[in-house]
Amino acid sequence: MSASDTIAIVLAAGLGTRMGTESPKVSHTLAGRAMLAHVLDAVKGASISKTAVVVGPNMQQVRDITKMCISDAEFFVQKERLGTGHAVKAAKRSLSGSNGTVMILYGDTPLLKQRTLKRLIKTREHKSNPALVVLGFETDAPGDYGRLIKGRDGKLEKIVEAREANNDELAVTLCNSGVYAVDARFLSNALDKIKNNNSKKEYYLTDIVELAIKSGRNCSVVVGDEAELLGVNTRHDLALAEAVVQHDLRVKAMTSGCTLIDPASVYFSWDTKLGRDIVIEPNVFFGPGVSVADSAIIKAFSHIEGAKISEGAIIGPFARLRPGTKVGAEARVGNFVEVKNSNIAMGAKISHLSYIGDARIGKDTNIGAGTITCNFDGKNKYRTNIGEEVFVGSNTALIAPLNIGHKVTIGAGSVITQNIKTKSLAITRVKQREIKNWTAKNKKG
Ligand code: UD1
Ligand code: MG
Repeated sequence: MSASDTIAIVLAAGLGTRMGTESPKVSHTLAGRAMLAHVLDAVKGASISKTAVVVGPNMQQVRDITKMCISDAEFFVQKERLGTGHAVKAAKRSLSGSNGTVMILYGDTPLLKQRTLKRLIKTREHKSNPALVVLGFETDAPGDYGRLIKGRDGKLEKIVEAREANNDELAVTLCNSGVYAVDARFLSNALDKIKNNNSKKEYYLTDIVELAIKSGRNCSVVVGDEAELLGVNTRHDLALAEAVVQHDLRVKAMTSGCTLIDPASVYFSWDTKLGRDIVIEPNVFFGPGVSVADSAIIKAFSHIEGAKISEGAIIGPFARLRPGTKVGAEARVGNFVEVKNSNIAMGAKISHLSYIGDARIGKDTNIGAGTITCNFDGKNKYRTNIGEEVFVGSNTALIAPLNIGHKVTIGAGSVITQNIKTKSLAITRVKQREIKNWTAKNKKG
């Protein structure tokens, strides 16, 4: 048997009551990606042959998240949320005929690593053939976690939920992570035997341990790392998990050759791509879909999402790059500049106080302070194309749609409404008048 005979059942039907949320719990994000996607990524890496996801009714969002990660995942609907055992039972059909291992994972345990899953599968498939292997962890703060209760012989006897536990059991610090590797045939039978005679009147999956022991089978425990097995039930848990993910991403960035002057103040997304010799100053936020090429500098307080930054570009301080932005090599986007869905070619400069939206800025063009591309007429959006080596004077309004040729000069303070030919000067400024001795005639005293 190998991981290729392994089925994963991921529970994602929970409502997230403790999160105080309208959206499914597992859709809440860590480093810009749904918790469930983090879990599914680990599943994918463990080369599992079939993935079943248990969702609630009307959970299209959870289905969409799943399909983005594992396109051939199967969905099973748990109509009523009657507990984790009931949820796995909803996916019982996925086990039919299998005599391999079933990995059961909770969608709210997002920090799980694929190597841990592999370790669990290996233990389950050991020749001692345990009915199931539970992934546990030691913690100083066992709180609401289920406790792994061992007998005198040191073998796992049962899992007790915190709310059902007596004082001795509550003192146990070895907790249930909610990840299990189970013998598929045993699980198929056990699911029908789980009862709901507990304080929550729920079908607890954790009861399968006692069912295994009763049928004369062994259960094993693999002890994992507490930080990796954090279960997210509240917004506070979500913030704790985010801190772990961010820490890992910062370490990864620095290991791959990026300088972070103040790592704790830089926030990455799960998919941020970084080259080498990049410097990232304090207080920078990367949303999803950003890549930064070698030797770029991201100055303090910049907010960047959906943007491609090329070699040697300098961004910020206080720059905002929105989705669809491409910044060419050695180009500059300076302070209080917002760029959206625009292509800034190599060597172009937008150094101060501008909005550039739906535009193309040619090579070595200079956009003066306060220039705005007026891309929206209240109903539709229009494009502004600016050629190479153009000089746009300060405080220019570019009313799109516009095509501006190469080597054009635009006088400061202009409102440009028509296309401009290559090498022309365009200026719409009202001529300055000077009225001599005006002060003496018009102001008293
Ligand atoms: C569960 C475990 C507990 C463990 C903890 C680890 C049980 C009874 N308890 O408690 O031992 O220490 O996880 O984090 O299993 N879900 C459904 N349908 C349901 C109920 C839950 O799909 O009817 C899903 C949820 O979306 C969630 C997961 O199952 O992803 C776990 O449910 P949750 O209510 O968070 O269980 P815990 O109280 O955390
Ligand atoms: Mg939970």
